[in-house]
Amino acid sequence: MGRVALVTGGSRGIGASISTALKDAGYTVAANYAGNDEAARRFTDETGIKTFKWSVADYDACKSGIAEVEAELGPIEVLVNNAGITRDAMFHKMTPDQWKQVIDTNLTGLFNMTHCVWGGMRERKFGRVVNISSINGQKGQAGQANYSAAKAGDLGLTKALAQEGARAGITVNAVCPGYIGTEMVRAVDEKVLNERIIPQIPVGRLGEPEEIARCVVFLASDEAGFVTGSTISANGGQYFS
Ligand SMILES: NC(=O)c1ccc[n+]([C@@H]2O[C@H](COP(=O)([O-])OP(=O)(O)OC[C@H]3O[C@@H](n4cnc5c(N)ncnc54)[C@H](OP(=O)(O)O)[C@@H]3O)[C@@H](O)[C@H]2O)c1
Repeated sequence: MGRVALVTGGSRGIGASISTALKDAGYTVAANYAGNDEAARRFTDETGIKTFKWSVADYDACKSGIAEVEAELGPIEVLVNNAGITRDAMFHKMTPDQWKQVIDTNLTGLFNMTHCVWGGMRERKFGRVVNISSINGQKGQAGQANYSAAKAGDLGLTKALAQEGARAGITVNAVCPGYIGTEMVRAVDEKVLNERIIPQIPVGRLGEPEEIARCVVFLASDEAGFVTGSTISANGGQYFS
């Protein structure tokens, strides 16, 4: 059995590609998800990867969910913080609830999950944490003050934890996808996608989830031990940070 990898939001979209790519690379993978049981069941049927349901926004649920994964599969050595949501609105129309939901999932979710595996990684002197941030955390995006703030926060967390984890054999890195053709992006109005978003991408297309997954597989590998605190931007040339 390979190292155990846990992917949050690992049953759909980019997360599903990450889970599958890690499995193909020899990891024993657990995929967490929040509520879409049907998608999770389909994913397990298709891939054989076990799914575990809890919200990353709930610290106690993370703690018990991780305990369940570790009891079934063994200590988590690779954590991919991929779960994320959008609740878009222009700032003057954004409600406190829209702000809170996105911060709770996209930023506090990383604290909750990483905090619960950190002690074990420190004891075993090995860990790989990969945080899925976003191009919009790097450059900011109108209509996404909540999402941009959370995703920028993920990058700060990545760099701070990279410093704390280094001597304990734990690397912490981030991947910032540009626009990837998942349900999250396909939900954007097609006219906006074709006339406003794709023309801003120099390679002239949306990214594929597998293109993000390959970055994660590299950062999770034993061979990437000298890479920490870094951000891989995979955005088709749309933004250079
Ligand atoms: N798509 C893009 O173009 C793009 C660009 C930049 C960054 N990203 C980031 O990449 C990540 C994946 O995006 P995606 O497009 O693949 O999203 P997606 O297709 O909407 O899938 C989101 C996944 O996250 C899970 N999830 C949501 N809230 C959760 C919670 N509180 N606890 C546990 N799991 C939760 C969902 O579970 P259920 O299936 O149960 O709903 C689902 O598995 C996100 O962090 C997103 O911000 C995406």
